[in-house]
Amino acid sequence: MEKQLIVLKEELKKAIDNVENINQLNETKAKYLGKKSSLQDLMKMMPRLSVEERKNVGRSLNEFKNYAEELIARKAKELHDLKVRLRLEKDKIDVTLPGKRFAVGRKHLLDQAWQELEDIFIGLGYQIAEGPEIELDLYNFEMLNTPKGHPARDMQDSFYIDGNNLLRTQTSPVQIRTLLAAKGDPVKIVCPGKVYRRDNDDATHSHQFMQLEGLVVDTDITMADLKGTLRFLMKKLFGDRLEIRFRPSFFPFTEPSVEVEVTCFKCYGNGCGLCKDSGWIEVLGAGMVHPNVLSGAGYDPKKYQGFAFGMGIERVVMLRHGIDDIRLFYGNDPRFLEQF
Ligand code: PHE
Repeated sequence: MEKQLIVLKEELKKAIDNVENINQLNETKAKYLGKKSSLQDLMKMMPRLSVEERKNVGRSLNEFKNYAEELIARKAKELHDLKVRLRLEKDKIDVTLPGKRFAVGRKHLLDQAWQELEDIFIGLGYQIAEGPEIELDLYNFEMLNTPKGHPARDMQDSFYIDGNNLLRTQTSPVQIRTLLAAKGDPVKIVCPGKVYRRDNDDATHSHQFMQLEGLVVDTDITMADLKGTLRFLMKKLFGDRLEIRFRPSFFPFTEPSVEVEVTCFKCYGNGCGLCKDSGWIEVLGAGMVHPNVLSGAGYDPKKYQGFAFGMGIERVVMLRHGIDDIRLFYGNDPRFLEQF
């Protein structure tokens, strides 16, 4: 019997060594430990043995059983590990392969400028105002001291919806809307937005463009406030080395009116192509709010003064980045837009 077990052990060992997969392992297990195994045959002999023999044989059979189970368990683990390893090798990914690039969008250059301008003025305590792009003739011209037939209307010919409504030619009607809504209280606003004019499109003109309007009305506002504010704005936009200067101009809704110029930031006053050798570049229109505008909107011009300015956003961005054609802003060409 002992001998039988030794032979059985060797047989088992060989069988397990040859096992290649889990099915074979299960078969081998059944063969050596299952109901019809030689082990079972040996067990069946037990009752016929004496007490003494039974003890020894029992121990040997047990030992065999333990040995067999251990071999099987070890093989099972081996097979499992192998399976995992093969799977890992098969599923391996090369993390050094270049990935797929997604095109990432960005803010349009004009949106960036819009945002930057708002941030500058919010920093100065201004509120952001808005107005409609389809505007009343009353606000776009009439209450801005520009009655029907006024020659200043010629420069801002527009798209009329009907006799009373037009696409606004400037952001200045937001001055009127703001004053009417404030009902006599001081105001301090900027309003960025689109405006429309019946211009022929060329490198510096577009039938649609953007302006930034500013309006401050209070009881002790002077031209020095206007100058200080615009000087601050220009330094923020074009750099600290710049100065600004006012030249007399005309707008129906401001008196006095000025054209604001900054030191040419390309030649710093020495004269170059950009400033046409003048050393100065014109950037916006401004002035002190006309008394007719104040009184028309319910403010007593003896008590209140104000300043206003209007700046072309495209123009400022073009100057800043050396862009020579306004149409590039609206062309949606990523080769242009990606640069900013
Ligand atoms: N609205 C004027 C324009 O479009 C600019 C401006 C605004 C001038 C406010 C003075 C005050 O030309």
